[in-house]
Amino acid sequence: MRPDDDNMRHFKRYLVTSALPYANGPLHIGHLAGAYLSADVYVRFQRLMGKDILFICGSDEHGAAITIKAMKEGLSPQEIVDKYHTLFEDTFQKMGISFDIYHRTSSPLHHETSQSFFKKLYDKKEFSEQESEQYFDEKAGQFLADRYIKGNCPKCNFDGAYGDQCENCGTSLSPNELIHPKSMLSGETPVLKKTKHWYLPLDKYEGWLREWIETGYLNHKEYHDPNDWKNHVLGQCKSWLDSGLQPRAMTRDLDWGVDVPHQIPGHEGKKLYVWMDAPIGYISATKQWALDHKKDWKKYWQSEDSALIHFIGKDNIVFHCLIFPAILKAHGDYILPFNVPANQFMNLEGDKISTSRNWAVWVHEYLEDIPNKQDELRYTMIKNMPEQKDSEFTWKGYQDAVNNELVNNLANFVNRVVVLTHKFYGGKVPKFDEGAEFTGPEDQYEDSYHDSEMLRLYDDIYEVTQSIREYKFKDALKGLMEISSKGNQILQFNEPWKTIKDEPERVKAVMNLVLQYTAAIRVLIYPFLPFTSDKITAILQLPPLKQNGDLVKMMNALSEGKPVIKAGHVIGDPNHLFTKIDDEVISEQIQKLQQKEKMKDGNKVDEHKHEPVKETIQFEDFQKIDLRIATIVAAEAVPKADKLLKLSLNLGFETRTVVSGIAQHYKPEELIGKQVVLVANLAHVL
Ligand code: MF3
Ligand code: ZN
Repeated sequence: MRPDDDNMRHFKRYLVTSALPYANGPLHIGHLAGAYLSADVYVRFQRLMGKDILFICGSDEHGAAITIKAMKEGLSPQEIVDKYHTLFEDTFQKMGISFDIYHRTSSPLHHETSQSFFKKLYDKKEFSEQESEQYFDEKAGQFLADRYIKGNCPKCNFDGAYGDQCENCGTSLSPNELIHPKSMLSGETPVLKKTKHWYLPLDKYEGWLREWIETGYLNHKEYHDPNDWKNHVLGQCKSWLDSGLQPRAMTRDLDWGVDVPHQIPGHEGKKLYVWMDAPIGYISATKQWALDHKKDWKKYWQSEDSALIHFIGKDNIVFHCLIFPAILKAHGDYILPFNVPANQFMNLEGDKISTSRNWAVWVHEYLEDIPNKQDELRYTMIKNMPEQKDSEFTWKGYQDAVNNELVNNLANFVNRVVVLTHKFYGGKVPKFDEGAEFTGPEDQYEDSYHDSEMLRLYDDIYEVTQSIREYKFKDALKGLMEISSKGNQILQFNEPWKTIKDEPERVKAVMNLVLQYTAAIRVLIYPFLPFTSDKITAILQLPPLKQNGDLVKMMNALSEGKPVIKAGHVIGDPNHLFTKIDDEVISEQIQKLQQKEKMKDGNKVDEHKHEPVKETIQFEDFQKIDLRIATIVAAEAVPKADKLLKLSLNLGFETRTVVSGIAQHYKPEELIGKQVVLVANLAHVL
């Protein structure tokens, strides 16, 4: 098998995208495992194979979730997206996610790109215009995004269900299903009002979408082989197609987003909805990259010899397999995705990851709490990647993976090789005698020859590359670790530390081989653990990887029996690749999670902050209010009043007793020591 025999059409170039994350909160490990790490492994690998590959991402900065976050935090939407965009960029960079560009949808280039895309579809008469009734807040004078409406869930009666989903029971909702709907802007009951939008008639595309998904062919041309697609991805697409596609509104009445192009009559107040906005962000990011590097973006998006691959989480399957392809095809100039290797979800310590319950490991916190251990997290994430079904991250599992696999297997192997090379040969890679026999990794009773072991190593590497091409990153990582285990076995079976005196020729052959293993691992590990690859490069004193075909070159060398690291080359000093993770580190993290979970009741109280802001007051009114910070020094229930607590507040200069209607949200003992704001000059009510 040739190293680049990849069983698929020979594309001239690859365009890889990761789902644009919503800039309304930080990234957690589930995001990382879902759409970013998988893509990064794939892209780094293809760069090592010498492919022309472009890795695109950016922040998704529009939509109601962002304006709501802005209201909660008392910031403007732009301030919110700036904050999270910067955090994302930093987090991705620190984790080694190697985007060619990390763009953002609030950029003017994106606004232009998505508007002209919309205009093109409008001019081609691809849209149907439809009227529908949407909730309208008369007091705020605007239509309400689904997320702006709260009410009782029709399924579980939870009183904080949103217009698009009940966070209590998880049911997807539409706003008109809510019982007692209330606008989050004014607190008023919204009214239904007619509004007009542009719809993409997905029902009309059902036929070709089904043909394309199920056969891979469209108009007698092959786009992909459905056998290469993951079962759960095909399954979800088919079940949507089976239940019948509906026309989808491509615009909304929103105040934060890309304007419907102003040349279009009736554009006032209308914004592009997520379908016509976020995924077009892939295109505008590619344009920005091309501008920055004086390249042609169109080849990547519009040329039949390009492969478009979307890495996403399972919640985005329909979006990327049906809706976005329909949009691309309606435009007419674009290729369709070659594959959409979506991942399922990663759970955490036996429970679903949940932002609202704060049940998550936030990546930026991990980077701070356990510094310089990016590859340890990458390793555990890839090892537990939810490729076919939901998976689980546990801190104990993380510790075991690092201590038993990275330290005991990989770091131990590399360290032994380096230490022994120094001890026996002063750090110089030994020459070996062609005929020298020793024990190979597979069979400790039969003798091996150096050349045949090099070919065996080639085969093992080839298998890893095949797994990556098939998006089986877990298998690929396992294959890599097996190569390291085999290296350890070669040392174990031959015991060079014992035989160096009596059988120096045999030891030379063994040591040369394990040095070839180490040098091969430094290349092959690069897609998974790039920081470790760099460390091995430094230890072996080899030139840095150029990422433009290093792996092909290495595999070609191996298949011809040529060395990966030459005899006579002098390596550097040993240095531990990994160290063990102590129990305390793990218990601290588990404690941190549980504390957050306890705070979830606190979070519910936080929700009251989102109660509508009261009517505007004048500055003179405000000046009359004397606000003081006070510390709660005592709290007790008020008999016969189940909503009230009696609080003693220390103002610094005096202690006051007040009664507050928060008994249903806080237990008295939780409040001691907390600070509150007190209106110090409020008249007695009773
Ligand atoms: N920001 C959305 C999400 O995270 C959509 C991402 S996919 C894209 O689910 F195509 F819109 F980028
Ligand atoms: Zn519910």
